Amino acid sequence: MPLDSRSRDDSFVRELLGLRLWEPLDGFTADNLRELWARHPVLIVRRQALSERELADFSALFGPLERVVRNEWASPVIPEVGLISNLKDGQAQPIGGLGDGELQWHSDQSYMMSPATGAALYAVELPPEGGTTSWVDLTAAYAGLPDRLKRLVEGRHGVFSYVKRLASYQGVDRVISSEAKRKTPPVLHPLVHTHPVTGRKALYLDSTTTIGIAGMDDASGSPLLDEIYRFATQPEFVYRHDWQVGDVVMWDNGSTMHRREPFDPTARRLMKRTTIFLSRARHIVPDGCLATEEAMA
Ligand code: SIN
Repeated sequence: MPLDSRSRDDSFVRELLGLRLWEPLDGFTADNLRELWARHPVLIVRRQALSERELADFSALFGPLERVVRNEWASPVIPEVGLISNLKDGQAQPIGGLGDGELQWHSDQSYMMSPATGAALYAVELPPEGGTTSWVDLTAAYAGLPDRLKRLVEGRHGVFSYVKRLASYQGVDRVISSEAKRKTPPVLHPLVHTHPVTGRKALYLDSTTTIGIAGMDDASGSPLLDEIYRFATQPEFVYRHDWQVGDVVMWDNGSTMHRREPFDPTARRLMKRTTIFLSRARHIVPDGCLATEEAMA
């Protein structure tokens, strides 16, 4: 089936038309989708009605699925599907993670040495207002950076820490198992990558995990990161998505960050998400290392 798609507000976002993700996609359509995702890091498909199995099967067309370190957020039915929700079960326990608060600009899995950079989020229940999600195009942000900032970040590695991410969460989400702690020591990733398909450079950032820049003391690293975040998250680089039930948004964390606005805690929001190891041949996939003293020097 030829793939029909149109640009949204910005060229880094494309909406795909006429897809029925609950049906197996033919090889030609799946190849076209992989091509399109390599060039447009945010893809939107509306009006879907998916079981968790169908969401997982569709996501797996793009790479192996990751079971994220927060296994308490995993669906009891299909563990590769995570529940992002403020809802509670009959024992008043959260059924998933990330509650109702604001989520600041971040890139999923940036705290992992080999992050799974693909994500798909499927809207099942939505609050009447708030809870919108925005994405920022870090390829356009890099292209727009003043030369002085380009020179300062080129060849530099950021220090990404899950401990900082945890501090930005609410309530029980701040607590992790010893197993999750063991899997998430601070890591280094280059702050600039070149896309394997487009050849364009992009920033790799996550304001909720970066705690410094390797080889720079805090007095120079922190203000530089602040300046880059201020520049990169200007409205001209941002797409804000007004969710409708049935939307699936897929994004590439290798060249975008996203943020969520808070919503009324008494309203209901249920999203289902998958996390995908995208192919290095088609996407930026940061290749990190442990933030040892030697690597930080
Ligand atoms: C996420 O950051 O993965 C969740 C975003 C959202 O809840 O809209």
